[in-house]
Amino acid sequence: MNEITVLAPATVSNVVCGFDCLGFALEGPCDRMTLRTREEPGIEIKHFDTYGLTTDPTRNVAGVALSALIEAAQITTGFELEITKSIKPGSGIGSSAASACGAVVAANRLIGERFSKAELVELAMAGEMVASGSRHADNLAPCIYGGFTLVRSTEPLDIIPLSFPELYVTVVHPQIEIKTSDARAILPLEVPLHDAIINWSNLGAFVAGLTNGDLDLLGRSMVDTIVEPARSSLIPHFDQVRSRSIEKGALGGGISGSGPSMFMLSRSEKIARSIKEEISAVFGNSSIEFNIYISKVATEGVRFA
Ligand code: HSE
Repeated sequence: MNEITVLAPATVSNVVCGFDCLGFALEGPCDRMTLRTREEPGIEIKHFDTYGLTTDPTRNVAGVALSALIEAAQITTGFELEITKSIKPGSGIGSSAASACGAVVAANRLIGERFSKAELVELAMAGEMVASGSRHADNLAPCIYGGFTLVRSTEPLDIIPLSFPELYVTVVHPQIEIKTSDARAILPLEVPLHDAIINWSNLGAFVAGLTNGDLDLLGRSMVDTIVEPARSSLIPHFDQVRSRSIEKGALGGGISGSGPSMFMLSRSEKIARSIKEEISAVFGNSSIEFNIYISKVATEGVRFA
């Protein structure tokens, strides 16, 4: 085999109470990536989308992740990578993670599955570092494992895939750009103990809610007294979107990753659809353009097309 095509899914990280450590995968949107081996060493990247991302493999997130894999595997052949992104960069639903993960999962298949999922996340982290300037894996881990994952530590990497009940997500992406690096620069450097207690209690409860299938507990655990207060003013209609979604039956939700997307979790597709209508009405009354998606929480991460 010298060619493979993968679909790399969007992901929601933080999930309100798990800043930099909790995340889950969506069924879509997905980036489509075709990887081909070639005799000549090096990486050639072609983009078939309109986002104007660099094709320089030393600056392109997928190129950097692929270089990390080439070095770790000590291979001498090169790769051609064709990328068609559907996940808009800067949307807050793991666009850079999808690029990095898609590239390493595809390459791993072509070289005979030499790396484990955890090792692939480690390699993809080199790409994520280029995008956000920070070593975090809360989008990368669910992008590769699927489902919900908890990253207990990045050094050394320790990923815990979590069991979870059937859940639906409504994601709204207001068409404004928030750079992850900017959204990280406004975070507090120190956290009062009182706030830390609230956050770690809720994260523990959220994980218990997932593994026990206790949806009410999930809902009341989506609380964040540290990151959300610093970031929510960057997100158009944040309070209204959440309160009206909860009135329509959302379990809870908040900022997806570093924004500007917001996500709402629900117990059924029917509720997720009525939340979609409600959020569309909120944005319909403003001049801000938006995309809105409904997805199940995906059991699978990057998949072969
Ligand atoms: N956990 C990260 C953040 C996700 O919120 O900054 C974005 O890459």
